[in-house]
Amino acid sequence: VGGGVGCAIALPSAAAFKEAGAEVDVIVGFRNKDIVILEDEFKAVSDNMYLMTDDGSYGEQGFVTAKLQELLEKGNQYDEVLAIGPIPMMKFVCKTTEPFGVHTSVSLNPIMVDGTGMCGGCRVTVGGEVKFACVDGPDFDGHKVDFAELMNRNGVYRDQEGEDEKNHMCRIEKLGKALIQ
Ligand code: FES
Repeated sequence: VGGGVGCAIALPSAAAFKEAGAEVDVIVGFRNKDIVILEDEFKAVSDNMYLMTDDGSYGEQGFVTAKLQELLEKGNQYDEVLAIGPIPMMKFVCKTTEPFGVHTSVSLNPIMVDGTGMCGGCRVTVGGEVKFACVDGPDFDGHKVDFAELMNRNGVYRDQEGEDEKNHMCRIEKLGKALIQ
């Protein structure tokens, strides 16, 4: 199950499962048709591909979790669900699979600083234990992840990021604007 740009990270995993001989169902979700990516690539590495958009402008309308719920209720048996995308999406994928007892891996993206397990920036709580996503992850058992803490910690710089977006334009963006004019 992939959401938005998370799909780019999910693709190699789907391909590896397929290559190992697994039957692969892929559900990908995007806000709308304009930001759909890797459709053909996912089709090539899956047995069934379900494309969802929030506004219904392409594929089926709805969230990836709605499709996942539908497939699980239909009786599809999955050995493993892998969820990669925004934190709320991964959280709700885990909530969807939990009652069906399907092991679910999530790929976490907490704020990382040194990437070597020294700074503690990427600390997450998994099964009540402190883990560092950069060295212990980034993939974890989604049913054990403390998503509330993760969302909290990832929002730490939200105010500064908001300010930055208002006042700062990166050089590539400036160049792009200059080229268009
Ligand atoms: Fe510093 Fe993981 S990024 S401990």
